[in-house]
Amino acid sequence: MKKKIFSGVQPTGNLHLGNYLGAIKNFVSLNNDDENECIFCVVDLHAITVSQDPAILRENIHETVATFIASGIDPKKSIIFNQSRVSAHSEAAWILSCIARMGWLNRMTQFKEKAGKDKEKASVGLYSYPILMAADILLYDTTYVPVGNDQKQHLELCRDIAQKFNNDFKVENFFKVPEPLIQKEFSRIMSLKDGSKKMSKSESSDLSRINLTDEKDQIINKIKKAKTDSLPIPSSLIELNNRPEARNLIGIYSSLANSTLESSIQNFSGKNFSEFKKDLSEILIDKISPISDEIKRLLNEKSYLNKILEDGYKKADNIASKKIKKIHDIVGF
Ligand code: TYM
Repeated sequence: MKKKIFSGVQPTGNLHLGNYLGAIKNFVSLNNDDENECIFCVVDLHAITVSQDPAILRENIHETVATFIASGIDPKKSIIFNQSRVSAHSEAAWILSCIARMGWLNRMTQFKEKAGKDKEKASVGLYSYPILMAADILLYDTTYVPVGNDQKQHLELCRDIAQKFNNDFKVENFFKVPEPLIQKEFSRIMSLKDGSKKMSKSESSDLSRINLTDEKDQIINKIKKAKTDSLPIPSSLIELNNRPEARNLIGIYSSLANSTLESSIQNFSGKNFSEFKKDLSEILIDKISPISDEIKRLLNEKSYLNKILEDGYKKADNIASKKIKKIHDIVGF
């Protein structure tokens, strides 16, 4: 039996190094393993939980597909589709919202962060968004969900929803309870300006992140301006504690070089950050610029991108529509 892999990325523009190192790079290796059946979803329904300009959203959906392909996901091997095309996602989300408890959602830290101080003005969709995410995952009998660390709590909620549904309706194992796949290291890439904040699309300063579409000179400039401290690179991992910016930059280097933090520290121990930053910019340009060039090239091939989404839709809809029919049956519709 093949393992089923499902993950999603919001088409909200500015896909960045955190998305790549925390999630998309992992999608590519899972896609390359013939033991897996992968589904990668452009979660456009999630994107509208905050207001979107329709024309820009449409462009961002294409850009997200282009990023998947440019990063190395093979659309012949993996299903790539956009969530809004497969109506079972919205339907299942409603049904599961009658299973999930308010108390569970109230604990979600991402909602608290995103809604900020003015919770009353946040959309209801932003609040119930983890339920839609559970619907995405559960419709496909997913075994593993590769995500960055920030999605861990949502995955736990998804597991709780699956188990409660199975228990409430006495349908043991109807929903497969999925496992998160979160890398031990580098699953939380931090802002280049503040090592205590995660790198994010919504951060107002563009200097806080490396976008996957950044040009070479933008990458060099952002790394040059990235916050560090005045100490040289230490000789042990323990000495990096309490130096979040330093740890983050060495982490980014290690992840791109497919090496460990320890071996990067050994490589650079005693050097100044100005020297290290040159090597970091170089490896970023080496790994990110080809992806960036390919994204831009693919964005001129909309018919190719649409064809991928159309093929993906048919395959995804075929799976999801069968599952939602069974859900209807179980619920008593
Ligand atoms: P989204 O669109 O915010 O992010 C996409 C993926 O990128 C990861 N990520 C990061 N990883 C490391 N460091 C960072 N700074 C960083 N920022 C983002 C995220 O963890 C994610 O894996 N709710 C999800 C999308 C979603 C989904 C799903 C995921 C919808 N349905 C079903 C898995 C399964 C989200 O908003 O991701």
